[in-house]
Amino acid sequence: MSKTKLQFVHHPHPSPVPADKRAELLKNPGFGRVFSDHMVTIRYHESKGWYDARIEPRAPIPMDPAAAVLHYAQEIFEGLKAYKTKDGGATMFRPTENARRFQKSADRLAMPSLPEELFVEACDLLVKTDRAWIPDGDGASLYIRPFMFANEIFLGVKPSSDYLFIVIASSVGSYFKTDAPAVSLWVSQEFTRAAPGGTGAAKCGGNYASSLLAQAEATRHGCDQVVFLDAVEQKWVEELGGMNIFFVFDDGSMVTPPLGGTILPGITRSSLLTLAKDKGIKVREDRYSIDQWRTDARSGRLREAFACGTAAVVTPIGTVRSKDGEFKIGNGGPGTQTEDLKSALVGIQRGHTADKYGWIHK
Ligand code: COI
Repeated sequence: MSKTKLQFVHHPHPSPVPADKRAELLKNPGFGRVFSDHMVTIRYHESKGWYDARIEPRAPIPMDPAAAVLHYAQEIFEGLKAYKTKDGGATMFRPTENARRFQKSADRLAMPSLPEELFVEACDLLVKTDRAWIPDGDGASLYIRPFMFANEIFLGVKPSSDYLFIVIASSVGSYFKTDAPAVSLWVSQEFTRAAPGGTGAAKCGGNYASSLLAQAEATRHGCDQVVFLDAVEQKWVEELGGMNIFFVFDDGSMVTPPLGGTILPGITRSSLLTLAKDKGIKVREDRYSIDQWRTDARSGRLREAFACGTAAVVTPIGTVRSKDGEFKIGNGGPGTQTEDLKSALVGIQRGHTADKYGWIHK
């Protein structure tokens, strides 16, 4: 890895959280509410490039009310996890893939490209500094959230001249609050997530903002997540509010919707495609319609379905509801192939299984 010339200035502070309070918080952190002590920041200006890299205490960031991001939503982010190892160290899962996707998202949102090695170095530094915030336990990890936003003080609509890149970290357990063995989905037939030519493949805050009303509708119908159909025909299953989807059939073969600009290219999705192929599973990236899904679930041809993502890992889908009624998948609980793929993935992520792919970054 080439060494970046930008040197981080360190301003660490002793944790403001006493060890016994931290231990208490780490017992059952939930998702996204417990934060570590520090943050990494790097600034960008169009005439200087990247500058002023720091690691310092996590704190509110002063912002001008005319900062461009607050008006035109020029913002992108990533999500990756760090795990505690038996020898007291820590690992991250495929951080370079996140760095690459971050560059692609930046390109789509007319933002500057952060060098891959700087992205990874920033994550490394935060994990090293805040290692005490990595929780123990099977489903627990330190969720790392790198993000970048437009910081120019200007109300004209144009790409910003200034940006702030920040990495924060949150001790997390399971993403879903439910104790149920499988989640339920609401099919959004009124709202779509991304249209061809739009920003669906970019990890930008705007995509998530536009999913919220549909997600609220899902919650109103007693469902855990929303599932979106394509914007053109309102027919093809695309993606959930914040995760990709896989279908498992009675002959063991699998299908996941193809990337084509409207779907987020999930790193968990791509890892599962590799793992499935290496297990000899026939897996296709192909379109699958909501009508076919309903028919196959009712006939038993579809045996399992699961959501996947960094936050969700691999989560079985049990029930699908829409204004046309409800159908169950399999017995409504986790299926064996879903569980098998999940343990193959989690085994590598947590260092229980050999990593023949080179996915683990120490
Ligand atoms: C992730 O899985 O990392 C995401 O960004 C999804 C979000 C819903 C937490």
